[in-house]
Amino acid sequence: MSAPKKLYIKTYGCQMNVYDSERMAEALGGEGYVPTESAADADMILLNTCHIREKAAEKVYSELGRYKGLKAEKPDLKIGVAGCVAQAEGAEIMRRQPMVDLVVGPQSYHRLPELEARARDGQKALDTDFPEEDKFDHLKARPKARRGPTAFLTVQEGCDKFCAFCVVPYTRGAEVSRPADRILSEARDLVERGVREITLLGQNVNAYHGHERGLAGLIRALAGIDGLARIRFTTSHPNDMDDELIAAHGDCEKLMPYLHLPVQSGSDHILKRMNRQHTRAQYFDIIDRLRKVRPDLHLSGDFIVGFPEETEADFEDTLDLIERVGYGSAFSFKYSTRPGTPAAERAQLDEEVKDARLQRLQALLTRQQRALQDAMVGREVSVLFEKPGRLPGQMVGKSEYLHAVHVAADGLAAGDLRRVRVVESGPNSLKGVLV
Ligand code: SAH
Ligand code: SF4
Ligand code: F3S
Repeated sequence: MSAPKKLYIKTYGCQMNVYDSERMAEALGGEGYVPTESAADADMILLNTCHIREKAAEKVYSELGRYKGLKAEKPDLKIGVAGCVAQAEGAEIMRRQPMVDLVVGPQSYHRLPELEARARDGQKALDTDFPEEDKFDHLKARPKARRGPTAFLTVQEGCDKFCAFCVVPYTRGAEVSRPADRILSEARDLVERGVREITLLGQNVNAYHGHERGLAGLIRALAGIDGLARIRFTTSHPNDMDDELIAAHGDCEKLMPYLHLPVQSGSDHILKRMNRQHTRAQYFDIIDRLRKVRPDLHLSGDFIVGFPEETEADFEDTLDLIERVGYGSAFSFKYSTRPGTPAAERAQLDEEVKDARLQRLQALLTRQQRALQDAMVGREVSVLFEKPGRLPGQMVGKSEYLHAVHVAADGLAAGDLRRVRVVESGPNSLKGVLV
């Protein structure tokens, strides 16, 4: 047998790309590839890319530039581009960077072994179709190796919402849900291999319809798996937060009290121009109903500042929304024009205005997050330990609210789920003691 070929994968973008990279590594494992942590060692380099903002997309080309020398030294090295830039730019990538051998869009990963063989043969391999078949049906099953206590599991992909700023409907295609029975068997397999917490992924995960009772039905079915302790899901759209899913937050114990529910803006005018299809009042109403059934729910959000036409008053509406909701964590971005999306055609705000607004928004979010985190001191949380901390004897894990929690105690191991009393709040994490 020949020596195994080495595969280096670099992942950008969202958690779905993290999941996809795992699945691609497994699929190429079947072709004789073993993973490596070093690009210099690799026989194949695969960049799993993100197209969401201009900077994300440009990173791909600067990274490819860095591989020029490697390719010159090692002519057999194959370079592939996967993910959302691959989908958005297709053959253009090979025109800009002729050393790229393979381009594969997110819906074609099951064809990776075929594409790899073509690239090995010295041909250029490109696939950015949206085929009818489910890519996950064709990907090789995950090998039975032990793994860490947390895992991602994609249940839904694509988006039909067409927010005016966003490329995802074009790069990931229309909304598709995987059948519940396949998700349940993949989850059981993960649990057998040591996983105790599963985060269900989808671009609009709460629009999931592969179970007759939607995402709530899937979550309740998953909650029946012995050994699975925690369930999370991300990312949700406000318009798909139905009554059953809200109710599940109140009575499904394995569903963690943390919800990422992006709103993007607090201004009705901007929400409308973004094509979000809901108002700020409707968003507040969803939060009220959630907090009624789960008062300790931690909320997380995404915000865009400097969207075309955003006035100072619109921006202040966003600050006001943040003050009212109280976010445990949040992600905020300057609006970035994306080719092919409706908002890219509109008059753009000055960069300085965007910069100043982003700073003000982030200052507020940081203050708010810190205050909510500090308020945890003295409280008891449950912690699922994941890995050793920085200090000797220390382990770090996540609370039900997704805070990182450090605990120093003898005999703690990854996968342990323990009650912890919080004793200190630091810049990015909590410190606790076992109860
Ligand atoms: N499907 C998810 C996530 C989409 S991308 C959702 O609907 O929430 C993650 C975040 O990137 C978005 O929530 C948005 O805040 C941000 N984003 C998307 N397009 C952007 C753009 N053109 N400029 C700046 N931020 C953007
Ligand atoms: Fe993008 Fe909007 Fe779809 Fe989210 S809901 S993926 S922001 S188009
Ligand atoms: Fe980026 Fe594609 Fe995810 S654009 S955020 S990798 S869906």
